[in-house]
Amino acid sequence: MKIGIIGAGYVGGTLATKLAAAGHDVRLANSKDPATLAEFEEIDGITPAWAAAAVTDVDVAILSLPLKVIPKLSDELITALATAEIVIDTGNYYPARDGRIEPLDQGTPDSEWVAAILGRPVYKVFNNIVAPSLKHKGDSDPRLAATVAGPSGEDKNRAYALVGQIGFDPVDAGDLDQSWRLQPGTPTYCQDMTADQIRAGIAATSPDDVEAYHAGRDAIEDFDAAMVAMRQYM
Ligand SMILES: NC(=O)c1ccc[n+]([C@@H]2O[C@H](COP(=O)([O-])OP(=O)(O)OC[C@H]3O[C@@H](n4cnc5c(N)ncnc54)[C@H](OP(=O)(O)O)[C@@H]3O)[C@@H](O)[C@H]2O)c1
Repeated sequence: MKIGIIGAGYVGGTLATKLAAAGHDVRLANSKDPATLAEFEEIDGITPAWAAAAVTDVDVAILSLPLKVIPKLSDELITALATAEIVIDTGNYYPARDGRIEPLDQGTPDSEWVAAILGRPVYKVFNNIVAPSLKHKGDSDPRLAATVAGPSGEDKNRAYALVGQIGFDPVDAGDLDQSWRLQPGTPTYCQDMTADQIRAGIAATSPDDVEAYHAGRDAIEDFDAAMVAMRQYM
């Protein structure tokens, strides 16, 4: 498939490398000139690109961005995303990084908010697996799982297939309105879990506990330091 990825950080860069290794034709972008992604140019199957060009007429576009930038995406990029057959969002809301985003504080699931801004359906995938595990624990024994939330149908099947191709068992997490069950602070969030463990963890989530989930998420006060600490595991 032709896959365009916006965001070349821990998650976007890892997905680009793994999806290219799985045989896909990957275009990768950040917020800058593609020349800043020279390290990826050497990888077979990855072509650095400007953001709008990366996702124009692709089979799958993947957004792997801090949520604070979503409302500021250019009209050109949103128009280009409309040409992608499927859009996947890996994003999670962290006030320590993104600032306060009122609809998300009030309980709109993160990726529903992204879909509304883009004006098109999205799938929430790869938000619920920590980047070092995404990078190093594909095809592990026991096989770990990654969740897929979004509308049922052929597009969702294609999202499942991508998860499987990079070494994880896909778990159906329902439609986007249920995707709060996958967000930071919830029982399955960024845990290394098998498919059965993730299903049990999702079943254990409760709307009564949402404040506790948010408190867990908000316990990270210095987001940059947490990301620097992650680097040693990449
Ligand atoms: N890290 C994890 O373990 C993990 C796991 C699951 C999900 N997530 C979520 O996935 C998303 C990405 O996380 P990450 O850890 O990969 O972040 P990251 O390492 O900080 O990378 C973010 C990427 O987004 C790019 N970017 C920022 N603003 C942009 C814009 N306006 N246009 C195009 N590109 C832009 C950055 O490029 P520039 O250098 O040009 O700014 C960078 O390449 C976040 O929402 C995060 O919460 C993270």
